[in-house]
Amino acid sequence: TWTTTSVVEEQVAAIRAQVGSKRAICGLSGGVDSAVAAALVQKAIGDQLTCVYVDHGLMRKGETEQVEKDFVAATGVQLKVVDAAERFLNALKGVSDPEQKRKIIGREFIRVFEQAQAELVAEAGAEGEEVAFLVQGTLYPDIVESGGGTGTANIKSHHNVGGLPDDIEFELVEPLRQLFKDEVRMVGAELGLPEEIVHRQPFPGPGLGIRIVGEVTQDRLDLLREADAIAREELTTAGLDREIWQCPVVLLADVRSVGVQGDGRTYGHPIVLRPVSSEDAMTADWTRMPYDVLARISTRITNEVADVNRVVLDVTSKPPGTIEWE
Ligand code: XMP
Repeated sequence: TWTTTSVVEEQVAAIRAQVGSKRAICGLSGGVDSAVAAALVQKAIGDQLTCVYVDHGLMRKGETEQVEKDFVAATGVQLKVVDAAERFLNALKGVSDPEQKRKIIGREFIRVFEQAQAELVAEAGAEGEEVAFLVQGTLYPDIVESGGGTGTANIKSHHNVGGLPDDIEFELVEPLRQLFKDEVRMVGAELGLPEEIVHRQPFPGPGLGIRIVGEVTQDRLDLLREADAIAREELTTAGLDREIWQCPVVLLADVRSVGVQGDGRTYGHPIVLRPVSSEDAMTADWTRMPYDVLARISTRITNEVADVNRVVLDVTSKPPGTIEWE
């Protein structure tokens, strides 16, 4: 029977058998999945593991600092932070197709991991190591949605599954690939990770890159980051963080509508709020959240974020909508 203790024991043994005395890196995103995967692998192989956090410039406000602080404090893991914002932005230039964006982001992640691995090997004077292990926090639903589940249609390429490049040389270590999110949270708690990490709302690896409908540019990212920070602040203040599974904030970058602010006409972009309730992200319903909280978020975003003159609420369940817009 399934217990978190047996999952931890089984996975620790499997990781040791796979990695042996070699070195592994783990891509850390700030989310629950990669944090739990890293903690599991750390338990199995200790300081043969180095975590790599790629700041792809598609993160939310304050997120990079939070990963550096919280996760290292909680686990004492070795962390390498790579600033790759320019690289991702260049790679995404001119691209608006969602699947293409996902593939580009997945590929760039791997290229940055390869570089980081080479640097770590050189630093350790361990040149000539043949197998490089990459730990990923892939879950069962990521595989199913990327088309890896039997008989299931491909919905979207999760950055760490369908978005991987063909020429990847890493051997993958994916200790969570049979688990659902609620089980991952239980495993994280069993491993002693703090509440703030274990109960963090999901955030996709491709970050704000798949929450800008249209081309990703620096200006659009800055705008969306502001709107997202306001929404998150108000949801937290209202005490809704646990009730809401996650609330993507989406910028419709290619849509404009007419508005009026002060004494003048505006022609700005809409921001979409997408609060959802879910058990495992495979299905979801839109959250009937309090109108006064919605009103506060709308007022603040339209007042504080330049070029946004409309806030709309997504009232679609999954299916037929997915949680993210891309
Ligand atoms: P969808 O949009 O498919 O999302 O309903 C289901 C859940 O998965 C998250 N998501 C991702 N997570 N890499 C991730 O790590 C991805 O490429 C990715 N795409 C979607 C999404 O936020 C939701 O929790």
